[in-house]
Amino acid sequence: MAERSDDWRDLYRGEEPDSDIGYLSYNEKVLEHFMNPHNVGLIEDPDGQAVVGDPTCGDYIEVCIKIEGERVVDFKFLVSGCPGAISTSSIATELAIGKTIEEAMALTDNDVIVAAGGIPVRKAHCSLLALRGLHQAIQDYVRKKPRARMKSS
Ligand code: FES
Repeated sequence: MAERSDDWRDLYRGEEPDSDIGYLSYNEKVLEHFMNPHNVGLIEDPDGQAVVGDPTCGDYIEVCIKIEGERVVDFKFLVSGCPGAISTSSIATELAIGKTIEEAMALTDNDVIVAAGGIPVRKAHCSLLALRGLHQAIQDYVRKKPRARMKSS
């Protein structure tokens, strides 16, 4: 059994540079999250919120989170972006829900891309949108609730 890599770029190593694979193809898992994204919407009375990107002219995401016992118990989003942004945002919510705020802050785009089973190389940056939103929403939560503590930041 092949060892699992911690680096999403390993999913594409060995491909021909001019190959469409890895550049234009979405895998089945990513397509499924694109067609049926999870945790879309807003949360009433969220504990933390963030808008990342530019709603007037480009890709952006609005993120709401609910925190209980210093854990992310809900994470919803509204995004304007490509299929890569929609699907990786959906996958990011699944990764983050249930994690402590420290664990959620430690999530990286690499974690999202590996969980997705890879996304086209040109779309790798789209996986950052939801995490940037999540991290800013957690910072918003910490700002609003000064007693919430984070081990590192
Ligand atoms: Fe802009 Fe994916 S969100 S290319």
